[in-house]
Amino acid sequence: MKFGYFDDRNREYVITRPDTPLPWINYLGCEEYFGIISNTAGGYSFYRDARLRRLTRYRYNNAPTDTGGRYIYLRDGVSGCYWSPSWQPTRHPAEEYSCRHGMGYSVIGSAYKGIEARTRYFVPLGENLEIWQLTVTNHRPAAARLSVFASVEFCLWDAQDDATNFQRNYNTGEVEVVDGVIYHKTEYRERRNHFAYFACSGKAAAFDTSRDAFLGPYNGWDKPAAVAADKLTNSLAHGWAPIGAHQVDLDLAAGESRQIVFLLGYQENSADQKFDPPNSQTIDKRRVQPTIAKYLDGKEADAAFARLGEYWKSVLGIFQADTPDPHANRMVNIWNAYQCMATFNMSRSASLYESGIGRGLGFRDSNQDLLGFVHMVPARARERILDLAATQLPSGGAYHQYQPLTKRGNNDIGSGFNDDPHWLIIGVSAYIKETGDWSILDEPVAYDNQPGSETPLYEHLQRSFRYTLERLGPHGLPLIGRADWNDCLNLNCFSDTPGQSFQTTTNKEGKVAESVFIAGLFVYAGRELAAIAERRNLKAEAAGYLDEVAKMEKVIDEHGWDGEWFLRAYNDFGQKIGSKENEEGKIFIESNGFCTLAGIGLEDGRAALALKNVHEHLATPHGIVVQQPAYSKYYIEMGEISSYPPGYKENAGIFCHVNPWVMIGETRVGNGDLAFDYYSRICPSARESISELHSCEPYVYAQMIAGKDAPTHGEAKNSWLTGTAAWNYYAIAQWILGIRVTLDGLEVSPVIPKAWPGFTASRTYRGVVYKITVERKGEGNAVALTVDGKAIAGSIVPPPPAGVTEVNVLCQLS
Ligand code: BGC
Ligand code: NOJ
Repeated sequence: MKFGYFDDRNREYVITRPDTPLPWINYLGCEEYFGIISNTAGGYSFYRDARLRRLTRYRYNNAPTDTGGRYIYLRDGVSGCYWSPSWQPTRHPAEEYSCRHGMGYSVIGSAYKGIEARTRYFVPLGENLEIWQLTVTNHRPAAARLSVFASVEFCLWDAQDDATNFQRNYNTGEVEVVDGVIYHKTEYRERRNHFAYFACSGKAAAFDTSRDAFLGPYNGWDKPAAVAADKLTNSLAHGWAPIGAHQVDLDLAAGESRQIVFLLGYQENSADQKFDPPNSQTIDKRRVQPTIAKYLDGKEADAAFARLGEYWKSVLGIFQADTPDPHANRMVNIWNAYQCMATFNMSRSASLYESGIGRGLGFRDSNQDLLGFVHMVPARARERILDLAATQLPSGGAYHQYQPLTKRGNNDIGSGFNDDPHWLIIGVSAYIKETGDWSILDEPVAYDNQPGSETPLYEHLQRSFRYTLERLGPHGLPLIGRADWNDCLNLNCFSDTPGQSFQTTTNKEGKVAESVFIAGLFVYAGRELAAIAERRNLKAEAAGYLDEVAKMEKVIDEHGWDGEWFLRAYNDFGQKIGSKENEEGKIFIESNGFCTLAGIGLEDGRAALALKNVHEHLATPHGIVVQQPAYSKYYIEMGEISSYPPGYKENAGIFCHVNPWVMIGETRVGNGDLAFDYYSRICPSARESISELHSCEPYVYAQMIAGKDAPTHGEAKNSWLTGTAAWNYYAIAQWILGIRVTLDGLEVSPVIPKAWPGFTASRTYRGVVYKITVERKGEGNAVALTVDGKAIAGSIVPPPPAGVTEVNVLCQLS
């Protein structure tokens, strides 16, 4: 069953009924001001950091779900009936409803009793504000007398404190209302130099800034007393809960349409220009007023919307493909790329599953995310890399997370996840492959943000590589530390105390438990580093890396191979994990996926054998599960992985992030059919028809789909902010479609299904547009390239002479 449809031409997903299985959200903003918005206008906004600078309040895990948002109410002056065009919060039935989630905007609205009302919500480029353009049309044969209300509930900035520190916060709330603009200025009197505002283009009849006055005691957002009474009371909040609410009276003739613009924004003043007059307590509004005036003008708002459209067109235009599969097309061309940008902006901080207060930007996560967005925003990717690297520790290890506002490593989760450093090598390598910008390696970058500790970025990579060599275990495999990619495989934790963090509790010395996954990662990252060293003319160094890589491959052969698949790890007792000898957790996806992706065992058939067993033991119609059999009980020596009920999350859930490793592995053994089959099993668009089971948005990936051991097999959770976005994009674009960036140029080497006659694609790469046509001539994956009419050897298109801006590539597969 579906709850809407894809409108590919407009790059939108159109939701046609509001009661989706879960709130289906979109993101507003792509620079510094952000918001999440659900299909019923739920969500919140923040400036740069979802925890530290939250503008509006949202109630996570509330009943009813998705409470707190950008709420508009219409009230019919004759019948007294009121409703929300976005359905929530009144949940009043409408005759027609739609939510169009598009690129950086959402249009939500409905029609009820001849009154159509739609609001377009978006954040203009270059501004720290959001525009709500509400259009109300009277389709009745007679005039309509309406009142329009728009409301937000302010958050007192630090979302964590806001949700807990009531003894203080009920006293601090302050607002100003000047010329119809509501200013939220809690703590502006003391150390904050910023405030929020909520403005309205219509001639405001009245306002409210006190939540109690607006809602009335014991009422929810579904029944604001002041809306029912058709009269806001011009209340001024003193402490308690400051809100912003505007009332506009609207008389519409038959057939008449009117637009009202609301602005919610954020503004900073310099510390010495906070007040006007200077020794007052009144906000100096001189800098913000022109911005407010500008965007309250509907024409300016339209122009800003058009610019946003152009921006997304150009960003997405960098890679476009036309394949025989409509699902792959819309994911590659629109939604998966868009989701990659959301993960760039948010990392794992703010979604419906990430509360915006728990996690900063992950070191591992952000580096992997680069694979999905580096081609779209290379300059910002560069900046991200340098920020990440500056949180690296002198040992080469990394803080697991950092806060975007301070750019400092955040000790909440600490460090010692022994896979972390390698993702920096992979991220930097992806950046250079895309841009050809070798200068990034010479950038001076500090360790742990300590001034004076700077070395060229290149040395950070060297230290990343060495980090593993200095931490090898009894079998010569990398020690796992707190965990590797699988944050829940906590082999040194041994926690028996409720509530202890599995990620930071370490009861074992950590000198025994080893990870075969990190071994595979080391091989992969080591080769990337060697390739970089070689092109920097550091031949001996490159050879040294390859030597270590070869040694590690040997160790994997000897101690990391279980006979039919790759082992997963050794625990603190030196026992195997992910082996046929185990009763539960006999075979895991991560080591088999990453080792085959890294090409380990390609020559001697072990890669193919491991993949065959992944297919046999781990693949389900809904995707590939993490391991089998699932852990049926808590094992103190395994940690969090065994804390989850079977089939969920890391305990045999379908972790969509790691599925692409197997897809890529399949391309490496030449099996395009199965690679694409795996791709389709978890592809959100391909799952649209089972939306009632899948539950999450059909236009973006979720982190996890419940595995076959779960009673809810096939149900997704944790959509949007997941490494799944980047890895699936990377797998389909660079390995299945095979349009792959390399240090030496653009490679075209597809491994597509046998039944595909071919496909076309356009890829802008290092300033050149490559128009690529792939034609199938035989069933295999052998590539013959013709570039601008001339046959060339190999699969890498040589960079064209300077001045050439378009290259035509014909790729024949046989
Ligand atoms: C989750 C992991 C996550 C980790 C760290 C665990 O509870 O299962 O997916 O990576 O927490 O935040
Ligand atoms: C989510 C985390 O963000 C990511 O870093 C980790 O690799 C996966 N969970 C698996 O545990």
